[in-house]
Amino acid sequence: MRLLVTGGAGFIGSNFIRFLFRLHPDYRVLNLDKLTYAGNLANLSEAETSPNYSFQKGDICDAGLVERLMRTGIDAVVHFAAESHVDRSIAGARAFIETNVLGTYTLLDAARRLKIPRFVHVSTDEVYGSMAPGESATEQTPLAPNSPYGSSKAASDLVVRSFWKTFQFPAIITRASNNYGPHQFPEKLIPLMITNALEGKKLPVYGDGMNERDWIYVEDHCRAIDRVLHDGRPGEIYNIGSGKPSPNLEIVRRLLQILGKSDDLIEFVADRPGHDRRYALATGKITSELGWEPEVDLATGLVKTVEWYRDHSDWVQKAKSGEYREYYDRFYVNRGTSLSQI
Ligand code: NAD
Ligand code: DAU
Repeated sequence: MRLLVTGGAGFIGSNFIRFLFRLHPDYRVLNLDKLTYAGNLANLSEAETSPNYSFQKGDICDAGLVERLMRTGIDAVVHFAAESHVDRSIAGARAFIETNVLGTYTLLDAARRLKIPRFVHVSTDEVYGSMAPGESATEQTPLAPNSPYGSSKAASDLVVRSFWKTFQFPAIITRASNNYGPHQFPEKLIPLMITNALEGKKLPVYGDGMNERDWIYVEDHCRAIDRVLHDGRPGEIYNIGSGKPSPNLEIVRRLLQILGKSDDLIEFVADRPGHDRRYALATGKITSELGWEPEVDLATGLVKTVEWYRDHSDWVQKAKSGEYREYYDRFYVNRGTSLSQI
């Protein structure tokens, strides 16, 4: 298979590319990424040595570029590229609307015209909004996003839906819960807490710390996307999660325990505006149709994640200082476009 992966330099996209090459070493991947603050090519240093991997720096909103890339002969698009951080969307949502909505439309429009036979749109449980205690969102639960980020993802899901309903364009939507694991930018809860604790800094917990998230280890998410890519039904939506929500405070305390640090590092800070209280997903559909279930339990995943951040202080230091952004200039500029490789 020849895949166009968007946003492959980010957290989940880079984990997915590494996972894919382990599972299908003969597949070819063209990674289109704008390299925003969240795109880090050091995440892909292993893949770069493969003749089956190419990178193109660019914006998914650039219709000309998107069409040119899709004309190189693509069997499927796996679309991760997005602005992904809720707090940033509260500070300003323009980039979220542009990339998440217009960018997704730009990809769909080209893929439909060029008859790309498969398109996986990677979305989020955040589109369902907050769940009441004891409740879980199924794929039929009405969309009720509360953050500007969530609303931009819900809007993109609706554009994807309309391309299936109107044009029978064979797109599939996945909606995953909160991911954690190696290579996550240290602005999200788990890597922020681990790296702050390692540096002896305070751990800022929003509100009362009792908001719940349904955590899934990133490799389990990648395995689910691979299952959907190969055997998912066009026009369908698949939830991907652990089905076991945990309060933030419990997560933070578990991390401190693994790190051997004191709970005194916890600092309760002002709540996030519009903060969703609880995310919880029902995942029976992907289990019964595609045989997928999470394999990494929370206790194991948290230990693995702490170990990765502890062993990769260089990656963390470069991510926090911004030095990682020099990677592209050193490795790609002056090497010309990598398109010819695919
Ligand atoms: P991320 O922020 O780590 O990475 C996003 C990537 O997209 C970066 O490499 C960035 O450079 C790239 N990008 C941003 N704008 C672009 C543009 N206009 N053109 C091309 N590339 C662009 O995000 P992530 O956490 O890896 O999330 C990936 C996808 O999964 C997103 O669509 C997100 O909504 C979804 N998702 C994330 C989670 C989670 O917990 N992180 C959970 C469910 C779904
Ligand atoms: O549910 C899936 C979504 O999960 C993805 O679609 C998003 O891309 C991803 O960013 C994530 O959104 P959240 O807002 O849930 O993740 P975040 O890591 O920002 O926050 C997790 C919880 O921790 C949330 O309740 C807010 C809280 N939090 C977060 C930060 C950054 C804190 O208490 N303190 C913090 O400093």
